Amino acid sequence: MNRPEGRVRDLALSLPAGALPAYIYDLAALATHAAAVRAALPPLVELYYAAKANPEPRILAALAPHTDGFEVSSGGELAHVAAAVPGHPLAFGGPGKTPAEMAAALDRGVGRFHVESTHELRTLAHLAAARRDRQGPVLVLLRFNLTVPSGLLAGGALAMGGRPSPFGLDPAEADTAVRMLADGSCPHLELAGVHAHLASGLAAPELAAVAAAVAGWAAALADRHGLTFRELNVGGGMHVDYADPAARFDWAGYGAALARVARAHPGLRLRIEPGRALTAYCGWYATEVLDVKRSHGEDFAVVRGGTHHLRTPAARGHDQPCAVLPVAGWPFPWPRPEGGSGPVTFAGQLCTPKDVLARAVPAAGIRAGDRVVFALAGAYAWNISHHDFLMHPHPGVHFVGGQDTPGPGAAAPES
Ligand SMILES: Cc1ncc(COP(=O)(O)O)c(C=O)c1O
Repeated sequence: MNRPEGRVRDLALSLPAGALPAYIYDLAALATHAAAVRAALPPLVELYYAAKANPEPRILAALAPHTDGFEVSSGGELAHVAAAVPGHPLAFGGPGKTPAEMAAALDRGVGRFHVESTHELRTLAHLAAARRDRQGPVLVLLRFNLTVPSGLLAGGALAMGGRPSPFGLDPAEADTAVRMLADGSCPHLELAGVHAHLASGLAAPELAAVAAAVAGWAAALADRHGLTFRELNVGGGMHVDYADPAARFDWAGYGAALARVARAHPGLRLRIEPGRALTAYCGWYATEVLDVKRSHGEDFAVVRGGTHHLRTPAARGHDQPCAVLPVAGWPFPWPRPEGGSGPVTFAGQLCTPKDVLARAVPAAGIRAGDRVVFALAGAYAWNISHHDFLMHPHPGVHFVGGQDTPGPGAAAPES
């Protein structure tokens, strides 16, 4: 599905050129998708949304009814998410948490931390001990960089574990970290269990096998210390296929596999925290072809905007799926620049050869003034981009399937 329909298409065609590029988010499609994901998971599996994928407040609000909480990875995300969806449970994860961020999280009453190192554990214990007014202990999930059976992470686009990395604790430190929490030296912290987000971009069978392996490892760790873990967070990382936008992660298969993991570990609450696979599909980046030219035998369409707004293809090295929406009118008295019969490369306005959104797109006869809409732009898109390089205007932000109000980055239409 890389061709927009309905209100997304209408808006992409009706916005004045000066109001492009624009992000268009389909909130109704997002809610339908999130509800389907929730329904595919066993009731005992908690679904958190990794806000880093897209922290747009209206996206957070649309997800809130279908999720059990939000994973945040910085003090900034924490404050932002707490304001956007007040009252929803938060888990504070991510590497390099500063003491000030952890103290602010404790002040806000955040009750669950994914701890990444023994130093972080000591800092949290110290900060929690200083807060005598706090109700109840702070729950800790120790994040581990586990080795899982070889090959399981190989399909992932972004492996964060299973090899040397700055993420989580090394498994060799597991007994030390558990002892620190179990021997009474961190009295205000309570060890709830283990967290492991090892890779992004895995298919359901691999991700399910990782979850089973992590659960087995965590159970053995708990056994060694005569403990029972109550929680296991197996992270996000569900595959989004940018080459085949109609394909979907097998949520039903993954849900069934998680149910088997849960049955093998009674009393353990499983949690997942997807980002990309929840929001990628609801976002579209709509723009206009400014120029079409032939260079050394290849056709290029230069669009308004580029990878400073939609960095996803540059960051991942893929072609962003897109569709051309032909526009009839041409306001200039000279001939309209037009492509040939071959494939086209879509480039942006930046002075770097890396500013390419999609290569080898079959877009025969594309013309300056046509509209182009890039699909799967709802995750790791605007919020991971280098917005101000070359000082082009920021894109507009529009919502369909909810109330369409321009977001803070909305560009003023050209008069
Ligand atoms: C700790 C953690 N959890 C969840 C996610 C979400 O991953 P994805 O968007 O691939 O589902 C990430 C992404 O980097 C992460 O670092």
